[in-house]
Formats: sequence, C-alpha cells, structure tokens
Amino acid sequence: MARRPMMAANWKMNKLIREAEEYVKELLPKISSAEGVDVAIFAPFTSLLEVVRATRETPVLAGAQNFYYEDSGAFTGEVSAPMIEDVGAGAVIVGHSERREIFGETDDVVARKAARAVSAGLLPIVCVGETKEERDAGSMWEKVSGQVRVVFERVDAGGIRGEEIVFAYEPVWAIGTGETATPEDAQDAIGRIRGLLGEIGGESFAEQVRILYGGSIKPGNVDDIIAKEDVDGGLVGGASLEAASFAELVNGAAPDSSGGG
Ligand code: PGA
Repeated sequence: MARRPMMAANWKMNKLIREAEEYVKELLPKISSAEGVDVAIFAPFTSLLEVVRATRETPVLAGAQNFYYEDSGAFTGEVSAPMIEDVGAGAVIVGHSERREIFGETDDVVARKAARAVSAGLLPIVCVGETKEERDAGSMWEKVSGQVRVVFERVDAGGIRGEEIVFAYEPVWAIGTGETATPEDAQDAIGRIRGLLGEIGGESFAEQVRILYGGSIKPGNVDDIIAKEDVDGGLVGGASLEAASFAELVNGAAPDSSGGG
C-alpha cells in the first residue's frame, strides 16, 4: 500500500521551551536513519515556535494541538489557523478526546476545525473514539462512525486528496490508562473507518487517507498494532515525552525497520 506510515508525538500540556529544544536535539540523531515514515511533534503553543525552529532543516513536522476555526476576532484565549501557519507549523490535532470531554468540544466544532485546517493547508489529525461505556454497550461503531460522518458535513471529501487529512482512532478508555486496544480491535475499528471513508469519498480517497491508532502506545506493544493492514502509525502521548522512547517508536514504524530499530 502506498500510504506512508506516520508516528506522531502528542506532548499534551508538557514541556517548557528549554525542554522542547533539548528533546528535539536528542531525538534527531536517534531517528536519522528512519526512512519512509513521517514524524510529527504536536507541541503546546508556547513551545511550538521552538519546535519549528529546531526541526526546520529536517523532515520532522511541527504541529499544534488545537486551534479555533475563525481566523481572528474577539475569541479570548484562542489561536487561529493563520497564527499556526505564521509560526511555521504544518499540522494540527483536531478533536482530541481531552478537548471533547474536558473542554466540551462538540462534533460540529470538530468538523469546522477540520474543514478550516484543510482549507488553510494545515494537515489535521482528526481524533475519534468511543468511551469504555460505549464499547461495553456495543455502540463503538455507532459513536465512531458518527464522529467520522459529521466531519464530512464540513469537509468536502470530493474536493480534497486523501493525503490532506489524517484520522486517529483513539479509544478513550485506552488513553493514558496503560490499557491498549488489541491489534485486532484496532484493525477492526480502523478498517471500518476506511470502509466508511470509501462510502463517503470513494475508494481511492479511502486508500490514501492515513488512519493512526492512539492509546497507551509504547515500545513493546506497538509493532503488532501497526503491522495491521489498515493501521498507518500512531499518535503517542505518554511514551512520546522521552525522546528515546519516541525515537524507538519512530524507528519501529519505518517500513524497512524489520522489527525495530
Ligand atoms: P497516551 O495518549 O499515549 O498517553 O495514551 C495518546 C493520546 O492521547 O493521543
């Protein structure tokens, strides 16, 4: 399959500017021989410019963890797509479950953000996933398919290439809990998401869109998950905070790594 795997670090609300700088300095030589894998770091706004600077001459993509879909105006505390582009970042996480659950982001807000990111030329990583209760109640697919469908009420699947959007399937019960989805469960959800993308945007669109898994990924549990046919890499929180463990994940995701790096 032609999709390039991606390994993305989601630092969440961690790292000062100095720590961001040290991290990138440590990471770069450790991943210098990882080929065929896209690497992204999603930093807090305060250290984003430092990550952009430190990765400028490298293939590492710097991204933000959130933004607001309006471009400017009376939105105290918010940051817009043009502002993210202004610092030189190229990607943004949209609809992380922590944004949805703690900060009350609705499906419609998530869809508007995804659409604005795409139109601004920022690569959105759109997060979807069910809670433990929803999984136990057998409504995983109802939840996840609904979250995916609503994105395409604002994003015109016919008007973009599959490379312009990334999804991350992150079951909420697996985030930061140490409990990972089984490779089979990850493949099941992600394969169904790809099927749905095919219904929405056509077969070739669906074949181009990358869909990551996220939720307690660490070196040691990721190989079997990303080896699955439809899983195109990972969005990593806790295990991305140390450059050494994130480097291990990046090297393991490189197609020619033959089992890690
Ligand atoms: P985790 O976080 O790897 O710490 O579970 C993943 C995420 O929330 O993106």
